[in-house]
Amino acid sequence: MTILAADCRVAMPAHGPFDLILADPPYGDTSLAWDRRVEGWLALACAALRPSGSLWVFGSLRSFMAEAPRFKEAGLRYAQDIVWRKPNGTGMAADRFKRVHELAAQFYRSTGKWRDVYNDVQRVPALHKSKSVRKQRPDRLAHAGKIGALEYHDDGTRIMKSVVDAQSPRSGRHPTEKPVALLEILIRTSCPPGGLVGDWFAGSGAAGEACRLTGRRYIGCEIDPAMAARASDRIAGVLPFDTGGSS
Ligand SMILES: C[S@@+](CC[C@H](N)C(=O)[O-])C[C@H]1O[C@@H](n2cnc3c(N)ncnc32)[C@H](O)[C@@H]1O
Repeated sequence: MTILAADCRVAMPAHGPFDLILADPPYGDTSLAWDRRVEGWLALACAALRPSGSLWVFGSLRSFMAEAPRFKEAGLRYAQDIVWRKPNGTGMAADRFKRVHELAAQFYRSTGKWRDVYNDVQRVPALHKSKSVRKQRPDRLAHAGKIGALEYHDDGTRIMKSVVDAQSPRSGRHPTEKPVALLEILIRTSCPPGGLVGDWFAGSGAAGEACRLTGRRYIGCEIDPAMAARASDRIAGVLPFDTGGSS
Protein backbone atom coordinates (compact mmCIF):
# COMPACT_ATOMS: atom_id res chain seq x y z
CA MET A 1 0.00 0.00 0.00
CA THR A 2 1.86 3.07 -1.25
CA ILE A 3 0.98 6.66 -2.01
CA LEU A 4 3.37 8.54 -4.29
CA ALA A 5 3.44 12.33 -4.09
CA ALA A 6 4.00 12.99 -7.78
CA ASP A 7 2.52 13.63 -11.20
CA CYS A 8 0.94 10.31 -12.19
CA ARG A 9 2.18 10.68 -15.78
CA VAL A 10 5.74 10.61 -14.51
CA ALA A 11 5.53 8.25 -11.56
CA MET A 12 2.90 5.61 -12.30
CA PRO A 13 3.96 3.90 -15.55
CA ALA A 14 7.04 2.39 -13.86
CA HIS A 15 4.88 0.76 -11.17
CA GLY A 16 2.75 -1.33 -13.55
CA PRO A 17 1.53 -3.54 -14.94
CA PHE A 18 -1.73 -2.96 -13.11
CA ASP A 19 -4.68 -5.35 -12.94
CA LEU A 20 -6.95 -2.36 -12.51
CA ILE A 21 -6.42 1.36 -12.90
CA LEU A 22 -8.83 3.64 -11.11
CA ALA A 23 -8.78 7.22 -12.29
CA ASP A 24 -10.71 10.10 -10.84
CA PRO A 25 -9.07 13.03 -12.65
CA PRO A 26 -10.26 16.63 -12.42
CA TYR A 27 -13.29 16.69 -14.75
CA GLY A 28 -12.52 20.17 -16.12
CA ASP A 29 -16.22 21.07 -15.90
CA THR A 30 -15.87 24.27 -13.87
CA SER A 31 -13.74 27.40 -13.79
CA LEU A 32 -12.30 26.44 -10.39
CA ALA A 33 -8.48 26.67 -10.35
CA TRP A 34 -7.94 22.99 -9.43
CA ASP A 35 -10.46 21.69 -11.96
CA ARG A 36 -8.14 21.51 -14.98
CA ARG A 37 -8.10 18.52 -17.34
CA VAL A 38 -4.84 16.58 -17.26
CA GLU A 39 -3.41 15.92 -20.72
CA GLY A 40 -1.66 12.78 -21.91
CA TRP A 41 -2.34 10.35 -19.08
CA LEU A 42 -4.72 8.02 -20.94
CA ALA A 43 -2.11 6.51 -23.29
CA LEU A 44 0.28 6.03 -20.37
CA ALA A 45 -2.45 4.31 -18.35
CA CYS A 46 -3.37 2.06 -21.27
CA ALA A 47 0.26 0.99 -21.68
CA ALA A 48 0.52 0.29 -17.93
CA LEU A 49 -2.40 -2.20 -17.92
CA ARG A 50 -1.99 -5.95 -17.90
CA PRO A 51 -3.62 -7.57 -20.97
CA SER A 52 -6.40 -8.75 -18.62
CA GLY A 53 -6.59 -5.36 -16.94
CA SER A 54 -9.05 -2.52 -17.27
CA LEU A 55 -9.46 1.14 -16.43
CA TRP A 56 -12.39 2.70 -14.57
CA VAL A 57 -12.60 6.47 -15.07
CA PHE A 58 -14.88 8.79 -13.11
CA GLY A 59 -16.41 11.72 -14.94
CA SER A 60 -19.47 13.60 -16.07
CA LEU A 61 -21.16 13.26 -19.46
CA ARG A 62 -19.60 16.62 -20.30
CA SER A 63 -16.08 15.41 -19.47
CA PHE A 64 -16.51 12.11 -21.33
CA MET A 65 -17.83 13.89 -24.43
CA ALA A 66 -14.84 16.24 -24.36
CA GLU A 67 -12.37 13.38 -23.96
CA ALA A 68 -14.07 10.79 -26.17
CA PRO A 69 -11.58 10.88 -29.08
CA ARG A 70 -8.66 10.69 -26.64
CA PHE A 71 -9.75 7.29 -25.28
CA LYS A 72 -9.66 5.88 -28.80
CA GLU A 73 -6.34 7.54 -29.61
CA ALA A 74 -4.89 6.09 -26.40
CA GLY A 75 -5.83 2.56 -27.50
CA LEU A 76 -8.78 2.12 -25.14
CA ARG A 77 -12.16 0.57 -25.89
CA TYR A 78 -15.34 1.32 -23.95
CA ALA A 79 -16.80 -1.60 -22.00
CA GLN A 80 -19.59 -0.29 -19.78
CA ASP A 81 -20.54 2.50 -17.41
CA ILE A 82 -22.30 2.93 -14.11
CA VAL A 83 -24.19 5.78 -12.53
CA TRP A 84 -23.25 6.74 -9.00
CA ARG A 85 -26.42 8.22 -7.50
CA LYS A 86 -25.73 10.35 -4.46
CA PRO A 87 -28.79 11.33 -2.46
CA ASN A 88 -26.89 14.25 -0.96
CA GLY A 89 -25.60 15.64 -4.29
CA THR A 90 -24.70 19.26 -4.85
CA GLY A 91 -26.10 21.70 -7.36
CA MET A 92 -23.67 24.32 -8.58
CA ALA A 93 -26.12 26.14 -10.88
CA ALA A 94 -29.55 27.53 -10.04
CA ASP A 95 -30.71 27.15 -13.67
CA ARG A 96 -30.02 23.39 -13.97
CA PHE A 97 -31.38 20.21 -12.39
CA LYS A 98 -29.91 19.55 -8.96
CA ARG A 99 -27.09 17.18 -9.79
CA VAL A 100 -27.23 13.95 -7.80
CA HIS A 101 -25.20 11.62 -9.99
CA GLU A 102 -21.81 11.02 -11.53
CA LEU A 103 -20.58 8.47 -14.02
CA ALA A 104 -17.79 5.94 -14.05
CA ALA A 105 -16.88 4.19 -17.31
CA GLN A 106 -14.76 1.10 -17.83
CA PHE A 107 -12.28 0.73 -20.70
CA TYR A 108 -9.88 -2.00 -21.76
CA ARG A 109 -7.05 -2.24 -24.25
CA SER A 110 -8.42 -2.18 -27.79
CA THR A 111 -5.80 -4.75 -28.83
CA GLY A 112 -7.44 -7.25 -26.46
CA LYS A 113 -10.81 -8.98 -26.13
CA TRP A 114 -13.45 -8.30 -23.51
CA ARG A 115 -13.70 -12.01 -22.69
CA ASP A 116 -10.03 -11.94 -21.58
CA VAL A 117 -10.53 -9.02 -19.20
CA TYR A 118 -10.88 -9.91 -15.51
CA ASN A 119 -14.57 -9.48 -14.74
CA ASP A 120 -16.20 -10.86 -11.61
CA VAL A 121 -19.76 -9.63 -12.08
CA GLN A 122 -21.06 -8.71 -8.65
CA ARG A 123 -24.30 -10.19 -7.36
CA VAL A 124 -26.67 -9.01 -4.66
CA PRO A 125 -29.47 -10.78 -2.77
CA ALA A 126 -32.69 -10.95 -4.81
CA LEU A 127 -35.55 -8.81 -3.53
CA HIS A 128 -38.07 -11.34 -4.88
CA LYS A 129 -37.23 -14.96 -5.32
CA SER A 130 -38.04 -16.47 -8.70
CA LYS A 131 -40.92 -18.93 -8.34
CA SER A 132 -39.83 -21.41 -10.99
CA VAL A 133 -36.69 -22.73 -12.59
CA ARG A 134 -36.72 -21.45 -16.16
CA LYS A 135 -35.17 -23.12 -19.15
CA GLN A 136 -32.98 -20.91 -21.31
CA ARG A 137 -33.96 -20.97 -24.98
CA PRO A 138 -30.88 -21.90 -27.04
CA ASP A 139 -31.69 -19.23 -29.64
CA ARG A 140 -31.39 -16.53 -26.97
CA LEU A 141 -27.83 -17.38 -26.03
CA ALA A 142 -26.22 -15.30 -28.75
CA HIS A 143 -27.32 -11.95 -27.37
CA ALA A 144 -27.70 -13.01 -23.76
CA GLY A 145 -23.97 -13.40 -23.21
CA LYS A 146 -22.04 -16.44 -22.08
CA ILE A 147 -24.46 -17.89 -19.59
CA GLY A 148 -23.11 -21.40 -20.03
CA ALA A 149 -25.66 -23.96 -18.89
CA LEU A 150 -29.03 -24.16 -20.54
CA GLU A 151 -30.85 -24.38 -17.23
CA TYR A 152 -31.32 -21.34 -15.04
CA HIS A 153 -31.09 -22.06 -11.33
CA ASP A 154 -32.21 -19.32 -9.00
CA ASP A 155 -29.57 -19.05 -6.28
CA GLY A 156 -31.39 -16.14 -4.64
CA THR A 157 -28.97 -13.52 -6.04
CA ARG A 158 -29.15 -11.13 -8.99
CA ILE A 159 -26.55 -9.30 -11.07
CA MET A 160 -25.92 -5.92 -9.55
CA LYS A 161 -27.60 -3.02 -11.34
CA SER A 162 -25.68 -0.24 -13.07
CA VAL A 163 -27.08 2.49 -10.82
CA VAL A 164 -25.33 2.44 -7.46
CA ASP A 165 -26.59 4.48 -4.52
CA ALA A 166 -23.97 5.78 -2.13
CA GLN A 167 -23.77 8.87 0.04
CA SER A 168 -21.20 11.43 -1.05
CA PRO A 169 -18.61 11.48 1.76
CA ARG A 170 -18.64 14.61 3.87
CA SER A 171 -15.42 13.82 5.72
CA GLY A 172 -13.74 17.12 4.84
CA ARG A 173 -10.72 15.22 3.52
CA HIS A 174 -11.21 16.18 -0.13
CA PRO A 175 -13.88 18.20 -2.00
CA THR A 176 -14.53 15.37 -4.49
CA GLU A 177 -13.94 12.32 -2.30
CA LYS A 178 -15.55 9.13 -3.63
CA PRO A 179 -17.40 6.65 -1.36
CA VAL A 180 -15.36 3.62 -0.29
CA ALA A 181 -18.43 1.37 -0.74
CA LEU A 182 -18.67 2.31 -4.43
CA LEU A 183 -14.95 1.83 -5.01
CA GLU A 184 -15.12 -1.59 -3.35
CA ILE A 185 -17.69 -2.67 -5.95
CA LEU A 186 -15.48 -1.60 -8.87
CA ILE A 187 -12.43 -3.24 -7.29
CA ARG A 188 -14.15 -6.56 -6.57
CA THR A 189 -15.57 -6.59 -10.10
CA SER A 190 -12.43 -5.70 -12.00
CA CYS A 191 -9.38 -6.73 -9.97
CA PRO A 192 -8.59 -10.29 -8.86
CA PRO A 193 -8.00 -10.86 -5.14
CA GLY A 194 -4.41 -9.91 -4.36
CA GLY A 195 -4.11 -8.04 -7.69
CA LEU A 196 -2.57 -4.60 -8.13
CA VAL A 197 -4.70 -1.46 -8.30
CA GLY A 198 -3.20 1.81 -9.54
CA ASP A 199 -5.07 4.91 -8.39
CA TRP A 200 -3.71 7.64 -10.65
CA PHE A 201 -5.48 10.65 -9.04
CA ALA A 202 -5.63 9.49 -5.45
CA GLY A 203 -6.96 12.58 -3.64
CA SER A 204 -7.97 11.48 -0.14
CA GLY A 205 -6.89 7.85 -0.72
CA ALA A 206 -10.45 6.48 -0.63
CA ALA A 207 -9.48 3.80 -3.17
CA GLY A 208 -6.56 2.79 -0.97
CA GLU A 209 -8.95 2.23 1.90
CA ALA A 210 -11.19 0.16 -0.40
CA CYS A 211 -8.18 -1.92 -1.51
CA ARG A 212 -7.16 -2.54 2.07
CA LEU A 213 -10.69 -3.71 2.89
CA THR A 214 -10.89 -6.01 -0.14
CA GLY A 215 -7.39 -7.50 -0.08
CA ARG A 216 -5.98 -5.87 -3.21
CA ARG A 217 -2.52 -4.32 -3.47
CA TYR A 218 -2.54 -0.57 -4.04
CA ILE A 219 -0.35 2.17 -5.45
CA GLY A 220 -1.88 5.63 -5.40
CA CYS A 221 -0.52 8.86 -6.82
CA GLU A 222 -1.44 12.38 -5.78
CA ILE A 223 0.26 15.53 -7.05
CA ASP A 224 -0.47 17.59 -3.94
CA PRO A 225 2.13 16.49 -1.35
CA ALA A 226 0.05 17.52 1.69
CA MET A 227 -2.96 15.60 0.37
CA ALA A 228 -0.73 12.62 -0.43
CA ALA A 229 0.58 12.57 3.15
CA ARG A 230 -2.96 12.64 4.57
CA ALA A 231 -4.03 9.86 2.20
CA SER A 232 -1.08 7.77 3.31
CA ASP A 233 -2.02 8.23 6.99
CA ARG A 234 -5.62 7.36 6.21
CA ILE A 235 -4.73 4.09 4.51
CA ALA A 236 -2.29 3.11 7.24
CA GLY A 237 -5.14 3.46 9.76
CA VAL A 238 -7.42 0.95 8.01
CA LEU A 239 -7.38 -2.61 9.29
CA PRO A 240 -6.14 -4.96 6.58
CA PHE A 241 -8.30 -7.46 4.76
CA ASP A 242 -9.21 -10.59 6.71
CA THR A 243 -7.76 -13.41 4.59
CA GLY A 244 -10.70 -15.63 5.49
CA GLY A 245 -13.08 -13.29 3.66
CA SER A 246 -14.66 -13.49 0.20
CA SER A 247 -13.42 -11.94 -3.04
C1 LIG B 1 -11.16 14.33 -8.36
S1 LIG B 1 -9.80 14.34 -7.25
C2 LIG B 1 -9.67 12.67 -6.70
C3 LIG B 1 -10.48 12.39 -5.47
C4 LIG B 1 -10.32 10.97 -4.97
N1 LIG B 1 -10.89 10.01 -5.88
C5 LIG B 1 -10.92 10.77 -3.60
O1 LIG B 1 -11.82 9.93 -3.44
O2 LIG B 1 -10.53 11.47 -2.67
C6 LIG B 1 -8.46 14.51 -8.34
C7 LIG B 1 -7.11 14.58 -7.66
O3 LIG B 1 -6.10 14.46 -8.65
C8 LIG B 1 -5.00 15.24 -8.24
N2 LIG B 1 -4.20 15.48 -9.47
C9 LIG B 1 -4.38 16.42 -10.43
N3 LIG B 1 -3.47 16.27 -11.39
C10 LIG B 1 -2.69 15.21 -11.06
C11 LIG B 1 -1.59 14.55 -11.66
N4 LIG B 1 -1.09 14.97 -12.84
N5 LIG B 1 -1.04 13.48 -11.04
C12 LIG B 1 -1.54 13.04 -9.84
N6 LIG B 1 -2.58 13.64 -9.21
C13 LIG B 1 -3.16 14.70 -9.82
C14 LIG B 1 -5.62 16.48 -7.64
O4 LIG B 1 -4.72 17.12 -6.75
C15 LIG B 1 -6.85 15.87 -6.94
O5 LIG B 1 -6.57 15.61 -5.57
